[in-house]
Amino acid sequence: MKKWIVLLLTVMVVSACSNEPKEEGDTSITELTGSNERKNAKEFTISAAEKEWEISSGQVIEAWTYNGTVPGEEIRVQEGDHLKVKLENHLSEPVTIHWHGMVLPNPMDGVAGVTQNSVQPGESFVYQFQAKEAGTYWYHSHQQSSKQVDKGLYGALIVEDPEKTYDSDRVLIFDEWALNGSSSNGMMGGMMDGSMNDGDMDTHMSYNTLSINGKAGNAITPIEVEQNELVRLRLINAGYAKRTLAFNGQEYRVVANDGNEVKNGEKTDQLLEIAPGERIDVEFEAGNPSWIIEEAVEENSLSIPVFASGSSTRDQHARQAQSTLLSYTEYGEMNALFEREVTPDLEYDMDLGVSMGMMQGGMKFTINDETFPETENIKVSEGDMVKVNLTNDSMLDHPMHLHGHHFQVISKNGQVLENPLVKDLINVKPGESYEIIFKADNPGHWLLHCHDLVHANNGMVTVVKYNDVYSPFELEGKFDNQPE
Ligand code: C2O
Ligand code: CU
Repeated sequence: MKKWIVLLLTVMVVSACSNEPKEEGDTSITELTGSNERKNAKEFTISAAEKEWEISSGQVIEAWTYNGTVPGEEIRVQEGDHLKVKLENHLSEPVTIHWHGMVLPNPMDGVAGVTQNSVQPGESFVYQFQAKEAGTYWYHSHQQSSKQVDKGLYGALIVEDPEKTYDSDRVLIFDEWALNGSSSNGMMGGMMDGSMNDGDMDTHMSYNTLSINGKAGNAITPIEVEQNELVRLRLINAGYAKRTLAFNGQEYRVVANDGNEVKNGEKTDQLLEIAPGERIDVEFEAGNPSWIIEEAVEENSLSIPVFASGSSTRDQHARQAQSTLLSYTEYGEMNALFEREVTPDLEYDMDLGVSMGMMQGGMKFTINDETFPETENIKVSEGDMVKVNLTNDSMLDHPMHLHGHHFQVISKNGQVLENPLVKDLINVKPGESYEIIFKADNPGHWLLHCHDLVHANNGMVTVVKYNDVYSPFELEGKFDNQPE
């Protein structure tokens, strides 16, 4: 009997110790300030539940939803507002909400096993934070995200700038689905004939149906515009695959990149690429006649009709070939976070790789040949300027996303950028390298990972850990915490 107790106690002590402070005086992330209750907070309740969702006429999927729809209910607030969001879990599996792109206190970041325990079935969790910066953000589960986001657990979070008004302000969230009985051979066809060998054909070959705001094909809601009105489109990619959009001759400007304002961008009708997890805002002045925004990769059929009022050409969408891609590193002006020549306190090299491995799908997605949680952490002290050198020697795109901070892209392929580019996600394509720099000004444990969530789930994740801050949460364990 005694032996049993001793054994039990030992097990308990050992497992309890795994995330305890290393030194006296270390701070638990749960004590990090800023998440306190506010009066006048805007309150929302987001309930996660299963729902039959009609993605196109007659085609119903078993979706997982936030407040019953795909995407989940849009949360729209004004810059400076405080939010109080209660997540209620009515699913049979644990979930969380991560506020993608928001700079907020670490305990509100929603990463299971890192910043909180996953929210168990029947339980709830309250997220409180201030929407400090206007922009386009989104929210999604960060518990088994490769599965849960795929099933529909995502939505838009829009923080409006009170000084900017648009006649029309719309959100388009892109995603893709693997539906049975769909006639399209989609990406598979592209793969067979090699036409999609552009770094983006790996984990989504069976994803044959593209959706916008949870609807596919003819069920996609057209954009109705009045002539001469100024329209802002907030484009969010919630899927695994990058989207390449053709505007068919309609000129537009990019006005924000990952929520950050882009000024003085040239009018263009170039192809617009949006990587998984990325947000790009564009504006255009509605003219006449009607036209369509469509996916430029031929195998992927997706089109959004834009109907101009008074136009008589409702079904005559002019197509206009355009083959050059807009380059974000050479477009418009953004407010720099730092001088280009700033000297980093710390530097990390991250080689992004793909190899055959024992993990599901047979592929491993690695950072310096390691998979999470064995990847090396980025250890920083508050105030450090941290430079990360991202290199992709693999054949696939890796849209790398940093939580809780903005970074500035300093160089691409060794070439220093003329204009500052400020983001929280950079799509590193095969053969490319980027140097990014951020200031460690938001203590906690923050993920840096590939937003092709299948890659993340198969290893491509690391954590930026502030020295002297520890997480009391653990991966797996009794809450089954699985961030990816
Ligand atoms: Cu959309 Cu870890 O993020
Ligand atoms: Cu990747």
